[in-house]
Amino acid sequence: MPTVQRGDVVELQVEKFADEGKSLARVDGYVVFVDGAVPGDRIQAYIHRTKSNYAEAKLDTLLEPSDLRTEPRCRYADECGGCKWQHVRYDAQLDKKQQSVAEAFRHHSDFEEVDVRPTIGSDRPPFYYRNKMDFDFSADRWLTRAEIDSGKDFDTDFALGLHVPGNFFKVLDLQECHLQSELSARIVNATRDFAKERGWKAWDIRNHHGFLRHLVIREGKKTGDVMVNLVTNGYDDARLEAYGAFLKAEFPEVTTYVHTNHTGKSQNPEGEETVLFGPGVIEDEIGDYRFEISPSAFFQTNTLQAERLYEVARDFADFQPSDRLYDLYCGAGTISLFMSGYVDEVVGVEMVEPAVENARANAKKNGVDNATFVAGDLKDVFTPAFVEAHGEPDVLIVDPPRAGMHKDVVGQIADLSPERFVYVSCNPQTQVRDLDRLNTLTSGGYRIDAVQPVDMFPHTPHVENVVRLTRV
Ligand SMILES: C[S@@+](CC[C@H](N)C(=O)[O-])C[C@H]1O[C@@H](n2cnc3c(N)ncnc32)[C@H](O)[C@@H]1O
Repeated sequence: MPTVQRGDVVELQVEKFADEGKSLARVDGYVVFVDGAVPGDRIQAYIHRTKSNYAEAKLDTLLEPSDLRTEPRCRYADECGGCKWQHVRYDAQLDKKQQSVAEAFRHHSDFEEVDVRPTIGSDRPPFYYRNKMDFDFSADRWLTRAEIDSGKDFDTDFALGLHVPGNFFKVLDLQECHLQSELSARIVNATRDFAKERGWKAWDIRNHHGFLRHLVIREGKKTGDVMVNLVTNGYDDARLEAYGAFLKAEFPEVTTYVHTNHTGKSQNPEGEETVLFGPGVIEDEIGDYRFEISPSAFFQTNTLQAERLYEVARDFADFQPSDRLYDLYCGAGTISLFMSGYVDEVVGVEMVEPAVENARANAKKNGVDNATFVAGDLKDVFTPAFVEAHGEPDVLIVDPPRAGMHKDVVGQIADLSPERFVYVSCNPQTQVRDLDRLNTLTSGGYRIDAVQPVDMFPHTPHVENVVRLTRV
């Protein structure tokens, strides 16, 4: 039975990091997961949830700080969902990411003890690294503790910023953010003022009405291109034009302005896109290649670390000049093109049609003529007929979304059993699940040669991981 109750404030000695950026402490053996704490802290924590075998708590008072702590740069660090770990020293973040990958293998796979290399961290101070941010409008503003304590009155029916963790409706009205760039923070603040002065309504996430839904900003970190994508509920030509004129006047750095019409209930900023000025795409560079990116195409959010990630994948693939490479879940063709100079031929597969168009345009723009891109859902298109048409791969690189690979895709990989297989993933849990499945399905199985985490998302618990396997 729980030894603590909801609403209790308890004193805790924090033992270790847990999942999702939390830390773990115990009260008489009963586990308490604490948000905002760091191993080594002595704290008072407020219990807000109890279950039969664990409780969840929030840091209330820091009695003795751990030496793994550092001073956060941002005033919203304690409350914002953007960075859960700004208070954790960067070297400790990297260590924890390495441990998370090792634990995923230990707890969720039958692979023997796997040696996980130290996480490759960011060479530069780990701020302003994101090339894409999706800021949400909401008619329900979250007030921070500092705002409440100030005793001032705030408009609570308009916010533009990021969600607070675990709250689907309320948005923190961010006046500063150190994840993308100073320019991006200025655009957010000016857009908020512009819309509020004109009485434009923010989207009411609970009741599904209002005009303004998302402000998506994409930046080419190597090129200086900037895309502003205003996502609204329905069209209003006069407003969209006025906002375009405002961007042109106030932010000459913006190279393209796109509108997305999104009338559905989901919070995904998807819908019909209209280019209002500029080319409707931005360009960025990874390695020697320049990529065109459309509003809905996936592009690694940390351009500089993407280069490190692809170098790891390239080295793990151990290419021969005669190789045929399959790049599955290829997005805008970035891995395909990055690897194209080391192999005879690349075949990329991707579900999002505009991303495939980007991939083809990118190949052309970079003078790459040995890459072919196929559009479709891998579980449908990745069949024996596909392999017949394109030829058997010598080496396979996959980079699926967080959910991992469909089991039929794993089955098809097992049937093919390529000699060298590199799995890039932003979710070690599903990665390990897929590798375990693959190993069970492949006669003789695969051997794990190397496991390399790369930090693409400083100040968050997310980890990108690359695994190299060889057919036994
Ligand atoms: C993590 S991204 C990797 C993209 C690319 N490799 C890169 O480094 O930029 C995963 C990609 O898989 C695509 N995708 C997701 N599910 C898919 C499916 N079932 N079939 C094909 N592609 C899919 C997504 O659209 C996205 O572009």
